[in-house]
Amino acid sequence: MENGNYTPLFNLDSFERKPRFTNGFFQRDVLSVDQFSKDDLDYIFARADEMQAMSRKWGTCDLLKGYTLACVFYEPSTRTSSSFIAAMERLGGKVIPITEGIQYSSVSKGESLIDSMITLEQYCDVIVLRHPEIGSSSTAAKYVKVPIINAGDGAGEHPTQALLDLYTIKSELGTIDGLRISMAGDLRYGRTVHSLTKLLTKYDVSLRYVSPDTLRLPLELMNTLIDKKMDVREFSRVEEVIENTDVLYVTRIQKERFTDLAQYDEVKGYFNIDAELMQKAKEKMIVMHPLPRVGEIAYAIDKDPRAAYFRQVQNGLYIRMALLAAVLGQA
Ligand code: ASP
Ligand code: CP
Repeated sequence: MENGNYTPLFNLDSFERKPRFTNGFFQRDVLSVDQFSKDDLDYIFARADEMQAMSRKWGTCDLLKGYTLACVFYEPSTRTSSSFIAAMERLGGKVIPITEGIQYSSVSKGESLIDSMITLEQYCDVIVLRHPEIGSSSTAAKYVKVPIINAGDGAGEHPTQALLDLYTIKSELGTIDGLRISMAGDLRYGRTVHSLTKLLTKYDVSLRYVSPDTLRLPLELMNTLIDKKMDVREFSRVEEVIENTDVLYVTRIQKERFTDLAQYDEVKGYFNIDAELMQKAKEKMIVMHPLPRVGEIAYAIDKDPRAAYFRQVQNGLYIRMALLAAVLGQA
């Protein structure tokens, strides 16, 4: 300690944080599925396969050693928040979790989204954000330099969910083209339906939408499908589509988006996928659900090999590992 001669704490030449890949994903925000080409999807799916193989063999690795993720959730989450945390940890990175404890963050003192984002940016390399306002992730991305990954912006989009949904369809059925995909549930407010619908316009699929009249797919999205000359039809009951369906994608009615709860009460309990209905379905059909379910799918269906929703949950981990590695230049 004499004459200001300190022994250096770190040998900074021993490890360097630098991108291994500077492809189109490096440092890029993930805000909407619109930004993914078919090649991009194939690339992420191939990386997800590698993540799966690595996780099964080693459990964890050092690919994201030295990187930190801020996981910021202004709305409840079980799967998206914990799978991003698990993804970062399996890849050897660190996490700042602002999830269930958002009430303990300065948001509860009235701090704005942008101030919170700019603050967190000083501590991390990538931010995963869920927020109740449509467009919130895009707004945040304008103010911060680190990549923002949209984990759900109100009734807008949930792009990482749609990627894992598509990956699940491909893994389960070996193809996407040629399938008849029926989406049943809250098509109006369900952001997973919005993102998956947009992604599916890149493929040769038949789309069937099933909902009560008040929860139909937004007109703008329906018009996009019609403009693209997709084979699309609307129904009010799952019974009308079940026999010819390859993928039944069920969603929860999004109670939190209703301004008038009396309207929610009118449609509550509308969907009930049970054993009787499953008897009418194809032997190779799969049932998907982004979860949480609140009564749309009977628990008895879980034992049916066609119930793919928990395999879908697992795929979310691999897709999110692939995405994190890609935006940080390590995949
Ligand atoms: N978990 C999904 C979402 O956050 C679906 C849902 O909540 O119903 O959009
Ligand atoms: N699928 C999904 O987004 O689940 P969570 O709301 O639990 O994150």
